[in-house]
Amino acid sequence: MAYNLLKGKRGIITGALDENSIAWKVALKAHEEGASFVLTNAPIAMRMGEINKLAAQTNSKIIPADATSVEDIEKLYTESMAHLGGKIDFVLHSIGMSVNIRKNVPYTELNYDYYNKGIDVSALSLHKLLAVAHKLDALNEWGSVVALSYIAAQRTYPFYTDMADIKAMLESIARTFGYHYGMQKKVRINTISQSPTRTTAGGGIKGFNEFYDFANLQSPLGNASADDCANYCISLFSDLTRMVTMQNLLHDGGYSSTGVSQEQLNRLGSPS
Ligand SMILES: NC(=O)c1ccc[n+]([C@@H]2O[C@H](COP(=O)([O-])OP(=O)(O)OC[C@H]3O[C@@H](n4cnc5c(N)ncnc54)[C@H](O)[C@@H]3O)[C@@H](O)[C@H]2O)c1
Repeated sequence: MAYNLLKGKRGIITGALDENSIAWKVALKAHEEGASFVLTNAPIAMRMGEINKLAAQTNSKIIPADATSVEDIEKLYTESMAHLGGKIDFVLHSIGMSVNIRKNVPYTELNYDYYNKGIDVSALSLHKLLAVAHKLDALNEWGSVVALSYIAAQRTYPFYTDMADIKAMLESIARTFGYHYGMQKKVRINTISQSPTRTTAGGGIKGFNEFYDFANLQSPLGNASADDCANYCISLFSDLTRMVTMQNLLHDGGYSSTGVSQEQLNRLGSPS
């Protein structure tokens, strides 16, 4: 059911790789809620061609941009504003990649070239998206920027290796830039800390399926789906959350506040 929550708003949505991507669901819902937006992803991700389907479905333009390149991001904002007919109201940062995770490198033996690459792609890219927007004055007052994070930024999950540090940095950038952009232009910046979700990025993590089940049993409401995450993003892009900024918002079915669930104990053989 749509509520026209984003009617008249202009946006940029990064990270829609295929129909499992969280960003894909956000784009579908933003379209339902009346927004017009540009889709963007790394040029290499375009080769799969999946994004064309989403663009057709949501009547949106695709502008390729490598989120590590300031030049690409400048072009992204300039062309998006020209195409959409004005400044931008919302931006979704839905970008994550760790070569160390992909190659199964243990945390105690991280490859620092891979580590730097992960930082650049997954955390600095948020700073770059914000800094370029700030320089070009590309965002409207009360605009909203959301980036996606994971609870490993606060607590240790061995399989998440360098992405834990990188997500901590991402959340810090959201807070710190949120202060400056809020003071100067009333732009708000938040991170959503999302449950494990079956996507290309999520599924690439060793032991993901077991951990997905663990989190599902631990959360009173179960794991939050990509669709649920998209709904939360839409609420943050809307005017209903105007005073929310500089927050890391846990979207996890209650996982983060649960010490242990009875279901987990039952699995270990403890009677309820
Ligand atoms: N899936 C999960 O379990 C989970 C949980 C919490 C947070 N997140 C976060 O959600 C976000 C979206 O991931 P997803 O799970 O939808 O997976 P996904 O693989 O569908 O999306 C990741 C996207 O990042 C893009 N990307 C990679 N390098 C890029 C670059 N240089 N420039 C521009 N784009 C680039 C990819 O092309 C892809 O579209 C990520 O930040 C991820 O860490 C995921």
